[in-house]
Amino acid sequence: WAPQGEGDQILIKGGKIVNDDQSFYADVFVEDGVIKQIGENLPVPGGTRTIDACGQLVMPGGIDVHTRLQAPAAGMSSADGFFQGTKAALAGGTTMIIDHVCPEAGSSLLAAYEQWRGHADGQACCDYGLSVDIPRWHESLREELEALVKDKGVNSFLVFMAYKDKLQCTDGQMYEIFCILRDLGAIAQVHAENGDIIEEEQKRLLELGITGPEGHVLSRPEEVEAEAVFRAITIAKQANCPLYVTKVMSRGAADVLAQAKRKGTVVYGEPITASLGTDGSHYWSKNWAKAAAFVTSPPISPDPSTPDHLSTLLASGDLQVTGSAHCTFTTAQKAVGKDNFTLIPEGTNGIEERMSVVWEKCVVPGKMDENDFVAVTSTNAAKIFNCYPRKGRVAVGADADLVLWNPKATKIISAKTHNLNVEYNIFEGTECHGVPTMVISQGRVVLEDGNLCVTQGSGRFIPRKTFPDFVYKRIKARNRVRRVSFAIIPYFGHNLSALTINSNHSHHSQGHH
Ligand SMILES: *[C@@H]1O[C@H](CO)[C@@H](O)[C@H](O)[C@H]1NC(C)=O
Repeated sequence: WAPQGEGDQILIKGGKIVNDDQSFYADVFVEDGVIKQIGENLPVPGGTRTIDACGQLVMPGGIDVHTRLQAPAAGMSSADGFFQGTKAALAGGTTMIIDHVCPEAGSSLLAAYEQWRGHADGQACCDYGLSVDIPRWHESLREELEALVKDKGVNSFLVFMAYKDKLQCTDGQMYEIFCILRDLGAIAQVHAENGDIIEEEQKRLLELGITGPEGHVLSRPEEVEAEAVFRAITIAKQANCPLYVTKVMSRGAADVLAQAKRKGTVVYGEPITASLGTDGSHYWSKNWAKAAAFVTSPPISPDPSTPDHLSTLLASGDLQVTGSAHCTFTTAQKAVGKDNFTLIPEGTNGIEERMSVVWEKCVVPGKMDENDFVAVTSTNAAKIFNCYPRKGRVAVGADADLVLWNPKATKIISAKTHNLNVEYNIFEGTECHGVPTMVISQGRVVLEDGNLCVTQGSGRFIPRKTFPDFVYKRIKARNRVRRVSFAIIPYFGHNLSALTINSNHSHHSQGHH
């Protein structure tokens, strides 16, 4: 069967439409890649293809907020590039990804952005957005950030608190970057781990003769993740900048986030497929290649109760979005670190499994309903990253990125059947109840009866604007309140006259120079 053209007309009949806030039975008519009508007995043109969706949920396609499909590591490129990665995404019900541009330390962010656009435009088969990593801060990057925000459709930037002497930012640099991002109306993302402590622990473990993948998790105890999350939140709060913590991997980190959120901080947390779907006991596997497949940072927690805890916080709204942080390397690539765990390229799979894993861990046990599921796999991401309601909602005028979900079907995850270029799947053997039976991307059927029919390069770049309401309404109000409270400082018992005299004085003396 041949791929269908842009002008396709599709009627999805008899399904239950599921958005983050409501479910209802209606038919959906799709034309030219857009949802044109929703209702019953819709008047549709001749030649329209009718799809029977009885017994199925019709949901907005998943948005994977964190992928690294072109990640450079020690001169290699990750195993699943934009083509393979987005194909796997579609197979799992994800119709948009936000990939991370990872510039080399000291190089131009804009040049790296263009490079990523080049890779993705030629290869991606679903729509995509980009976040840009800021490796090693330099004042000259300020202009580049402005240009990326104003001209290039990027509104999210990641700083690292780990990877000492490579990517790691100091607290002072983070404060400076957060102030700039707040003024630009962008989302500050943080990779939260204490890089200084990790380096010391790595040295200590290597000296003890521990060289295998277990050294990776032993050198990164959960406290160094939780401490960094707390520090990042503190710094962001001082800068009145909204914060987004990528890759929430441990109970401690998630609890710190939840507490800050309950106290009113504008902070978002992203658990990933790996932290929700498996645990870190595998780092001690006798099979080196299998253990190495789990190496990612922050590491997957060896505490077996972590996935349950994270899914509970995700269900309660303390955590809001899910990504995969998909970044895979083959066994041969991972083997670069076979005698030294610090050299194992980092990253795990999860782009294809994310939707089914979240359904299995959250909806099947009754922690979430179908609407919550749509919120954490799609809608919240679209709201935070500012592409809502074009993405993340089944509504007239929205892009026709849709998933027909069968809650009764089951599937067992295995490397034998996955759509990835790697030998191991970290979720091997996991049974998932709830699978995508049909996936529609840009109004075209790309998955049907288990067959994928994707078009390389058909994925479009989705530019995203600054100041997303969902994130910034509260920040703006707080900025106003702050200005007012500065003006009424004396009200809180400080010495008004001293303050006034000082400021007059400094004003005067400046005038003399
Ligand atoms: C392991 O690799 C690190 C670089 O990450 C290096 O500094 C260290 O000397 C190596 N140690 C051993 C025992 O090979």
